[in-house]
Amino acid sequence: MKRILTGDTPTGRLHLGHFVGTLENRVKLQNEYEVFIILADTHALTTLSEVPEKIKEYTKEVLLDNLSIGLDPKKVTFFKESDVAEIYELASIFSMYVSHNRALRNPTIKDEIASKGLGDLFSLGFINYPIYQAADILCVKAELVPVGKDQEAHLEQTREIARVINKFAKSELFPEPKALIGRVGKLVGTDGNPKMGKSLNNTIYLSDSKEEVEKKVMGMYTDPKRIHANDPGTVDGNPVFVYLDTFASEADLKKVEDFKTRYQKGEVGDVEVKKFLVEVLNSLLEPIRKKRLEFKAQDLDAILKEGAEKTRRIAGETLNQVKESLSLV
Ligand code: TRP
Repeated sequence: MKRILTGDTPTGRLHLGHFVGTLENRVKLQNEYEVFIILADTHALTTLSEVPEKIKEYTKEVLLDNLSIGLDPKKVTFFKESDVAEIYELASIFSMYVSHNRALRNPTIKDEIASKGLGDLFSLGFINYPIYQAADILCVKAELVPVGKDQEAHLEQTREIARVINKFAKSELFPEPKALIGRVGKLVGTDGNPKMGKSLNNTIYLSDSKEEVEKKVMGMYTDPKRIHANDPGTVDGNPVFVYLDTFASEADLKKVEDFKTRYQKGEVGDVEVKKFLVEVLNSLLEPIRKKRLEFKAQDLDAILKEGAEKTRRIAGETLNQVKESLSLV
């Protein structure tokens, strides 16, 4: 079976943006591929270096997020990056083949520096993390990587690394892994910001309660030009309708179309549409909440321990091959 490796940086719980960006694809493909999910806890130090104790808590939450959407721990291998030391060794070899300028030119890294206003106050590990990510992916020779759109640049860098190592190793050690972008690459935030992100406070988490979902949806940004319920409203790009289009089930599609028509004519108020969205989201999230509770009662450490052992075996073989072919043995 071909392999998938993907995962998350545990800097917070996962939200609806992750769901349509990558999580759905993980579930869909778990029977066709051998799937590895990494909890990239070392990556999390790029943002949580001053509060490292939070990483442990988020690692558990993110594991629960992945399990609660329907990934089966009997089929899927879950592991923490910090449990697989071979990754760091591989990454340090890879870093010899990446120029400093290339690392700085990574568009996602550049975006993050700008959007977080980091100026030149970022760590060496921060510009290095796409190289660690390449080691995450290549240590198991994964061929497919389901991710959100923001991760495409990292996959490009991973492919470059695979090529350069293959070239100097004079063998096809690594496949060139492909990104698989979800049906919505980037989900708009509840405040209308094109990006949903935990630091932006515009997210709906998979683990939010019914009441939290209701509160967030009722406060959602809609069409700012519309003041009265009988003003004709704009549907295109209106976050409430974007969410309806994204999350409504097949059975609700007619209802969504009807709401759109009435909204454009000024025949329905924001409140009524939002109430419908609350129902749609809660019926998606209810089974997820239930599963989360079930998994919470299980031995999560055992899942991670087993995953780490399996991944270390494979990563160890990969590392040996790399060392041998680069004359390090
Ligand atoms: N950088 C990814 C994110 O923040 C998480 C990640 C770490 C990852 N290692 C990975 C994703 C390997 C895919 C493959 O979302």
